Amino acid sequence: MNYLIFGNGYIGNKFKQAIGEEASISGVDISDYQAVRSELARVAPDVVINCAGKTGKPNVDWCEDHKEETITSNVAGPLVLLRACSQAGIYWVHVGSGCVYTGDNGGLGYGEDDPPNFFGSFYSRTKAWSETMLEEFPVLQLRLRMPVDDMPGPRNLITKITTYKKIVSVPNSVSVLEDFLRASLVLMGKRATGIFNMTNPGGIEHREILDMYREIVDPSFTYEIFSLEELGNVTKAGRSNCVLSVEKREGAGAHMRPVREAMRDILVKYKESMRAE
Ligand SMILES: NC(=O)c1ccc[n+]([C@@H]2O[C@H](COP(=O)([O-])OP(=O)(O)OC[C@H]3O[C@@H](n4cnc5c(N)ncnc54)[C@H](OP(=O)(O)O)[C@@H]3O)[C@@H](O)[C@H]2O)c1
Repeated sequence: MNYLIFGNGYIGNKFKQAIGEEASISGVDISDYQAVRSELARVAPDVVINCAGKTGKPNVDWCEDHKEETITSNVAGPLVLLRACSQAGIYWVHVGSGCVYTGDNGGLGYGEDDPPNFFGSFYSRTKAWSETMLEEFPVLQLRLRMPVDDMPGPRNLITKITTYKKIVSVPNSVSVLEDFLRASLVLMGKRATGIFNMTNPGGIEHREILDMYREIVDPSFTYEIFSLEELGNVTKAGRSNCVLSVEKREGAGAHMRPVREAMRDILVKYKESMRAE
């Protein structure tokens, strides 16, 4: 099987690592139709995975001031891939985001059929727009959320919340990457299409993760909580906090471990990675 990954960033490289030699990464501009067509002709992939997009650096606030770049990469780019992959008859996968909701839907979690209800950041709006458009077509859409990884790094939720001065603590769905990658490959193997919530079962608060971090990684670690209102005073864009339902994905046989079990396992590995550095 030949996989072509667009987007030479964090998630693109995680897919490459998980798949191995059968995968290659392309850094061409996904909004450039001719460049994408040439890559598809050159590589002749069985599966395309789109991991290209603007997420904002150092964070999503960047997207508020760079709307054209953001909409070009997050909305126009996926539409170019849709056209090019459809013309070439290639199955393709789009990495979307679960950050299109706010709340926990009265305890049920938001399902894939629930319309997005979080519009507080330009980034989230572009992810909701592209998702809604692609939903009309046979594309597999993976809703990733707050990636959790055993390697320390600026995009890893564990590293983020252990280095912030203060954190907000409300229930959230998160994607433990090990589980996310495994479940994504199961869905790709079945040639699944449509939207899937790719988060571990259950919501977890940041304070719970940090308490586990103190227990497993660093007994001297301390943290401070602040409210959503206080956070709003120091960020330009709103932040989505939400819990998603995983019923559809679990029903499709693409399992992810319960969030607390997976988090403990990753924290043990995270500690080992810190030692090795
Ligand atoms: N990491 C998260 O927390 C998270 C959560 C949910 C969903 N996602 C989604 O997952 C996808 C991958 O995110 P990531 O975390 O891997 O972000 P990342 O590390 O910033 O990687 C994205 C890569 O895409 C590139 N890119 C941007 N616009 C492009 C374009 N038009 N054509 C080709 N490449 C382009 C970026 O290059 P530049 O750096 O030069 O822009 C970067 O190398 C995104 O769609 C994101 O919305 C991420």
